[in-house]
Amino acid sequence: MINVKAQAYVFDAYGTLFDVHAAIARHRAEAGPEAGRFSEIWRGKQLEYSWTMTLAGQYVDFWTLTERALDYAFACVPSVDRALRSRLLEAYLKLDPFPDAPNALTELKSRGLRLAILSNGSPRMLDAAVRGSGMGGLLDAVFSVDVVRAYKPRPEVYALVTDSLNIAAPEVVFVSSNRWDIMGAATFGFRPIWVNRAGMPDEYTDQRPAQVVADLSALPSLTL
Ligand code: LAC
Repeated sequence: MINVKAQAYVFDAYGTLFDVHAAIARHRAEAGPEAGRFSEIWRGKQLEYSWTMTLAGQYVDFWTLTERALDYAFACVPSVDRALRSRLLEAYLKLDPFPDAPNALTELKSRGLRLAILSNGSPRMLDAAVRGSGMGGLLDAVFSVDVVRAYKPRPEVYALVTDSLNIAAPEVVFVSSNRWDIMGAATFGFRPIWVNRAGMPDEYTDQRPAQVVADLSALPSLTL
């Protein structure tokens, strides 16, 4: 596997290229002292719903799950004013990219690598995020789980990349800050790079990343 040349770098979107806590950050003063906990519940429930729905053989798009998770966060943290709902959702459509993302993608692109996103996000969400970030010109493809109507870490989601780009799994370097997504990518046969932005302990030790980096700026100098 190590001798196979990487042909494409494929990025998870939320938490990896785009900061999911940027929505609350824009309204932190109005959200009050529990803003951080509120945002963690919002993100945690959004992901939980994607896993539980997939396990149940159901599919509801990621935007709807994002709205439902937000409503759950409001119910859990009554100190955050529900009047923020529409502004938080609007901000979620225009999440800031992490500052290290544009330069890392530009450098990889200059080496002739194909770049893509593979995300749970609905096509509308991803289109808005990519347009807002100015990174659209660097990406060869944006893959949404929406076409397979199931969420990561189902293997048919990762297969969207190999089927669409017509490459083998070991030719794909898959980059995600979500350790469970790295587990899914490793199981599928991608070369996974875990972006451990938060310095979390390792888990899923049977499905390890090929490399671990603190942020995307380290990517271009990795030897893969
Ligand atoms: C995504 C989720 C995992 O972008 O954040 O696919």
